[in-house]
Amino acid sequence: MTRRLPHIPVDIHDEHRHLRRLLGQIAAVLSAGQAPRATMASHFCDLRDQIARHFDHEEDGGFFHAELEEAPWLHERANTLLEQHPQFLAMLDDLCSVAQCGADSREWWDEIATLFDSFMRQFSQHEEDENTLMQDALSRDVGAED
Ligand SMILES: [Fe+2]
Ligand SMILES: [Fe+2]
Repeated sequence: MTRRLPHIPVDIHDEHRHLRRLLGQIAAVLSAGQAPRATMASHFCDLRDQIARHFDHEEDGGFFHAELEEAPWLHERANTLLEQHPQFLAMLDDLCSVAQCGADSREWWDEIATLFDSFMRQFSQHEEDENTLMQDALSRDVGAED
């Protein structure tokens, strides 16, 4: 019997890769410590908009719904991940607001670096957990067809 290849949700994986690249670029600009405050503020606000769109795709699009339709035992894990989204948007709101309003000083750089680092660590874990969840859903699909 011909094995049907699992459906890979290319868009979501593309988005995860894109966001990883974007975070790396911002981290590099931040660690160089030479960009004007307005440039940093614009990077963080752009990041916030892009991540908000990504969350919309995950919540409203076919990501969790399509992939997990046949795997109800994974729904709780999926819902736990979706419930983390507002806290990440709040962290990004803070970051934008500090970046836009603070004085360009050593303390300001330290503060945005700390906020960004904390966001990046937690968000990267979130994205990794989503990738693992997807992988679990897909491997169970393939296993079920054996
Ligand atoms: Fe997510
Ligand atoms: Fe995601």
